[in-house]
Amino acid sequence: MDIKKNIVIYTIIIILLIIGIIISTTSIKNETIGIEQNQKKLKKLKISKKEVPYINEKNINRYLKYKNKNKNLSLEEIITQVNIGLDKKPYTHTKKSIYPNKLYILTNKYTYLEKDYIPDNLEYLDTSYSRSGMMLVKEAKKSLEKMIQAANIDGIKIRVISSYRSFYYQEQLYEKYKKEDGKKIADTYSARPGFSEHQTGLCIDIDDTILDYNNFHKTKSYNWMQENAHLYGFIERYPKGKENITLYTYESWHYRYVGKKIAKYIKKHNITFDEYYVKFIENKEE
Ligand code: DAL
Ligand code: ZN
Repeated sequence: MDIKKNIVIYTIIIILLIIGIIISTTSIKNETIGIEQNQKKLKKLKISKKEVPYINEKNINRYLKYKNKNKNLSLEEIITQVNIGLDKKPYTHTKKSIYPNKLYILTNKYTYLEKDYIPDNLEYLDTSYSRSGMMLVKEAKKSLEKMIQAANIDGIKIRVISSYRSFYYQEQLYEKYKKEDGKKIADTYSARPGFSEHQTGLCIDIDDTILDYNNFHKTKSYNWMQENAHLYGFIERYPKGKENITLYTYESWHYRYVGKKIAKYIKKHNITFDEYYVKFIENKEE
């Protein structure tokens, strides 16, 4: 009886072992086929990881599809834009922003901050250049004050009209704009709650005290900012001509603090922060 029982147990063990071996060899085989297929597709794109280090092998099918739809774009542009998420409809494929409290934290129509995200080190701005109650992250505030001082010496006025905005404040704003203009239009100029850069505490809207912010691009202050903002670590975040990347209409008044090094690179290469982020920040080793 015991011998029979043992034989049954051993047979079951052997069968399970065989099944295990078959499953693992098939998955290794599939994985190898997957890698080979990706390499073939990479060849089809005529590009290597050496040339474009931020190419993401998981996105290869998306690159190929996007390339077919956008024949005028270079491969670098295709890879950058797909990595940003631009091959998908805004707000349909979103992910959580992954660098809290870093100067290079990203928000856009694909990357959001959670409701309870409040940046560390928020400080009140001085009412000599802003309205009471406005806040920014300490480092951004310090650089902003240096920039305003330098502008004043050149006879240029800069006033902050918006800075840090909580998730809930942005929600109220977006709802108001939606009621006034409808969702489609509101989405062209206002971020949905969680997706606004103002929640990072690293950006400002400015005007020059004479013309309102909508006409900021017509002011001397704007020209001064064009020439100098990057020297203080600020960039124009939603520039003219880049609406297809930022997915917002041109905002001559909105500046983002990213620190001097990144700001200088972005200015020199005339790219958006979204492009800079996928090229140099995303997936970088901490
Ligand atoms: N106007 C900018 C895009 C915002 O709402 O954050
Ligand atoms: Zn703004």
